Amino acid sequence: MNDIVELLREKIKGASSYDEACEITVRELRRLVRKFDWVGIYMRQGDELVLAAWDGPEATEHVRISVGQGICGLAARTGKTVIVGDVNADPRYLACFPQTRSEIVVPIYARDHVIGEIDIDSDTADAFTDDDRNLLEDVARLLGDSA
Ligand code: SME
Repeated sequence: MNDIVELLREKIKGASSYDEACEITVRELRRLVRKFDWVGIYMRQGDELVLAAWDGPEATEHVRISVGQGICGLAARTGKTVIVGDVNADPRYLACFPQTRSEIVVPIYARDHVIGEIDIDSDTADAFTDDDRNLLEDVARLLGDSA
């Protein structure tokens, strides 16, 4: 897991823009971690989360999400990582893909405020562990520091 953070640190350093850093991050996370089936980064614009980069088998219709909606909105409002082991049992979940079974959303901070988040869907139920949370919180710090 630390190897992934170090690899991303180097790649993000070489990015020529923040958008490119986001593109690299979603692509590498999906490539390196098999259970990460869809990886997106949303950036906060006022009361909305706007999809900045994604990698996965198909596009989501949720390219803008209100901060009041979904698991994404919850993570942005509370500033805390949210893990949902069974999306079908969580009424807050905004459905994107029929095959998704679990989700993790990790806020990206710049100093003390949430500027965006990493959103990952897995086709496996209960896919996300504390190791994944730690990995993704480290990656979110990389992105927050380079914003
Ligand atoms: N499931 C998210 C919406 C975004 S899609 O997963 C890409 C949510 O509940 O906020």
